[in-house]
Amino acid sequence: MAEKQNTVTITDNRSGKKVDIPIQHGTHGSGVFDVRKMYSELGMFTYDPGFVSTATCSSYITYIDGDEGILLYRGYPIEQLAEKSSYIEVCYLLLNGHLPSAAQLETFRCNITCHTMVHEGMRRFYSGFRHDAHPMAFMLGCVGAMSSFYHDSTDVTNPRHREISAHRLIAKMPTLAADSYRYSMGLPFNFPKNKLDYSDNFLYMMFALPTDDYEVNPVHAKALRTILILHADHEQNASTSSVRLASSSGANPFASVCAGIASLWGPAHGGANEAVIKTLEEIGEAKNIPKFVARAKDKDDPYRLMGFGHRIYKNFDPRATLIRDACHELLNDLGEQQDPLFEIALELERIALEDDYFKERKLYPNVDFYSGIILRAMGIPINMFTVVFAMARTVGWIAQWMEMMDDPEQRIGRPRQLYVGPATRDYVPIDERE
Ligand code: ACO
Repeated sequence: MAEKQNTVTITDNRSGKKVDIPIQHGTHGSGVFDVRKMYSELGMFTYDPGFVSTATCSSYITYIDGDEGILLYRGYPIEQLAEKSSYIEVCYLLLNGHLPSAAQLETFRCNITCHTMVHEGMRRFYSGFRHDAHPMAFMLGCVGAMSSFYHDSTDVTNPRHREISAHRLIAKMPTLAADSYRYSMGLPFNFPKNKLDYSDNFLYMMFALPTDDYEVNPVHAKALRTILILHADHEQNASTSSVRLASSSGANPFASVCAGIASLWGPAHGGANEAVIKTLEEIGEAKNIPKFVARAKDKDDPYRLMGFGHRIYKNFDPRATLIRDACHELLNDLGEQQDPLFEIALELERIALEDDYFKERKLYPNVDFYSGIILRAMGIPINMFTVVFAMARTVGWIAQWMEMMDDPEQRIGRPRQLYVGPATRDYVPIDERE
């Protein structure tokens, strides 16, 4: 809620009409001009493609200061959560707004683990997909299909339904994600093991073979835990905004999370971690880096260096700092410091950070620059990277959805437009057209 309120006056120079626009300030960060009454008062909309200057909601969940490189979940700095918390505790925090007591955490953990299995019919659902399709395509189909398998929790006006569907989504995403991989590899699905924690269970379902015992590698599990925490929420990014917009019509949470998955898949968003590895592979050798940097700088070439730049972080991405350390730690522990892609990545980072083009535009390595290298070192195939991101972000999507459902200001999302098409004209019968 706004703590103080003042106004700015806009004068329409055509008519001389003046309108007071209230200014609202939140807990931290830039204030907003509250333009909700502008259309009724001035008959004009605001124009802001890509929502560069537009706040679409107020939220209690996540705060980002892009200039200072700050990321807070419910007020807690990401650095402290990454060091001290568990992913499941972060899920509780994002959903409930406070850190849990030991008893609350245990109850929450039980609620999640009792939902980790998926309906057997869902597992048969996979056989309808081409085995070589992208796993994000499986995820889109399967999470959408959850609305049919779990239609007993799709009444969005019922708080208990909302809670159950939230637990189901968080619990079943790792199972569906691992199933996507297993199906694409022609491997049998593994059932979740509820004695394992969230990260360990995912690695187990991904990699355990029925023929062998499987021990979760603790170094892998720790790195995965860091990735999950760092990706858990990021306020009103493209995928979260897609979830909010889709669910603003009253659509059920499974369908709405599908909208988030669709948006996340794009290379400018969650697909970037996959694109980073492809870029590094394409570069091939450190000596080729200047050629690729030159392409990224060429105005006539649409090529971009994947893993660089962020709409909000214009100084550094605090997640990238943490994940960079995790990346070093993992590769040290695994004795794979010589991963040639990591060497290329470090050199690319060095060259780009010294380059005026990147400096002037404040293009720093983002979280995806390093997460791909970690996931690759863990044996997770490239096309599963965005799936892991989707798994981590599900709690953020759900927390934002739950917040929206309780928000008295919530209305169906309906952006306006500046129409620049043809003026009104009459239909011409086909035999009279030139
Ligand atoms: N390589 C080269 N140039 C770039 C890059 C890049 N990766 N990113 C931005 N630029 C340039 C643009 O060409 C533009 O230059 P100009 O001012 O001379 O026209 C300027 O920097 C600003 O770029 P915009 O596209 O206006 O910035 P925007 O905030 O809209 O885009 C985005 C942010 C999408 C992340 C962009 O930086 C990008 O495409 N990066 C690569 C993809 C990527 O890594 N995405 C992951 C984001 S993090 C996440 O989703 C978890």
